[in-house]
Amino acid sequence: MMKRILITSGAEAIKNKMKFKKKILCIGAGYVGGPSMAMIAYKCPDYRITVVDTNPDRIDAWNSAQLPVYEPGLDKIVKKTRGKNLFFSKDIENQIKENDIIFVSVNTPIKTYGAGADMAADLQYWEKTARQILKHSRSSKIVIEKSTLPVKTALAMGKILASAKGKIKFEILSNPEFMAEGTAVNDLENPDRVLIGSHETKSGLKARAELIEIYARWIPLKKIITSNIWSSELSKLVANAFLAQRVSSINSISALCEKTDADITEVAKAVGMDSRIGDKFLNAGIGFGGSCFKKDMLNLVYLCSYYGLQEVAAYWKSVVNINEYQQERFIANILNRMFGTLAGKKICILGFAFKANTGDTRESPAIYISQKLLAEHAQVIISDPKALKNAAIDLEGTKGNVKYIEDPYRAAAGCHALVILTDWDLYRTLDFRKIYSSMVKPAFIFDGRNIIDHKKCFAIGFNVYPIGKPALSHFKN
Ligand SMILES: NC(=O)c1ccc[n+]([C@@H]2O[C@H](COP(=O)([O-])OP(=O)(O)OC[C@H]3O[C@@H](n4cnc5c(N)ncnc54)[C@H](O)[C@@H]3O)[C@@H](O)[C@H]2O)c1
Repeated sequence: MMKRILITSGAEAIKNKMKFKKKILCIGAGYVGGPSMAMIAYKCPDYRITVVDTNPDRIDAWNSAQLPVYEPGLDKIVKKTRGKNLFFSKDIENQIKENDIIFVSVNTPIKTYGAGADMAADLQYWEKTARQILKHSRSSKIVIEKSTLPVKTALAMGKILASAKGKIKFEILSNPEFMAEGTAVNDLENPDRVLIGSHETKSGLKARAELIEIYARWIPLKKIITSNIWSSELSKLVANAFLAQRVSSINSISALCEKTDADITEVAKAVGMDSRIGDKFLNAGIGFGGSCFKKDMLNLVYLCSYYGLQEVAAYWKSVVNINEYQQERFIANILNRMFGTLAGKKICILGFAFKANTGDTRESPAIYISQKLLAEHAQVIISDPKALKNAAIDLEGTKGNVKYIEDPYRAAAGCHALVILTDWDLYRTLDFRKIYSSMVKPAFIFDGRNIIDHKKCFAIGFNVYPIGKPALSHFKN
């Protein structure tokens, strides 16, 4: 049972309500809604922030000692604000009535049915939210798109909200979130930029100024940029597309490195020192995961096709294709290097989260790679410091022999191979000599993130297979 630690009496709640300068609501208490609202509450103690969600377990978790989202530094700011000016509530209806500014941060997954299936964004949660706002509002409000949405979503939202009765008016703003999981607290506190898109009408500009006032409490004005609403909606999709494209670009070259004895780390360093290119996001690996990149890429592809831009759609689709190719290559390499059969062999997966410093496993390459290893009848032992609970949910129903062991040393004991899938810092400093001595020989390492000291592991006795670098093998030929 989750321990509830937030008790606010009715009288206290009324007193709290009276003393706050602004009343802000966020609909959607997920990876974005929770941390981004905690930061506003932390930086603006005179604003009251409430976060609601249709999922009661999520709200209970936000009100407990065990937050539903793992992010370094998040516990601290939630502890400082919760119950003072940050509240998590299940009462969506009354919160819509009471608040003047509403952020919408609900999920926008890929549509799995009907027209645009597997490509377009599924906007059903968005539309339901718009209808809820319309139904329960008793006064005019600013509604802010924080979810990532296809360009022109504000048009549909505007049409729904325009059917409000009487004098109630809604002004829609776009304020996409650029934070990254694993570094969310730092990204929210020191963002590269905050983008606010609005209609360029008198009321649109007034609403925009109100949102600027919130962020200006801790973010320099020169970093708060404004645009028309469509540019803002599109910029978020394009930012993710550019990031994903860099990952696929370096990964495509890693395949060429493996054929030519070039080393992808050396190539990335030489390329990244060109100031026109820059050195970020140039680490080769098993490809991107996470809830956003793939869905936003596919959504961009769908939008391009929808507007008849087939060549542009094909260009961006190739980024997703390379990501899948990279995972297939990695799996084929494991199979080939381990003599063409994994049946009955024990494979230890180090890292299941889609990246370090998060417990999030949505679209993690580890899901697909584990499933493929299990399909080859390998025994899979999964280790991760934060993501084992999610891993077990992701692999529920997958046939095969799978175990979950948090301690990497215990997980690796008796295994034939280590497969590194997440760039957790703790894997860089493991005692590989100790691990080697507990494994079946010949022992293999497949480093899907290029994070360990390959030469050192080779010297210990491992056969080491990095990405985009010459293999270090003790086998002749
Ligand atoms: N996760 C990220 O790193 C990230 C970063 C930037 C932008 N985004 C975007 O932000 C949006 C939210 O992402 P997330 O990762 O927080 O998703 P999430 O699934 O973690 O959270 C969304 C929450 O919204 C709730 N919800 C859905 N419909 C609702 C409704 N009608 N009323 C109340 N609650 C409702 C769900 O129960 C869920 O808890 C997405 O559009 C995503 O693309 C995500």
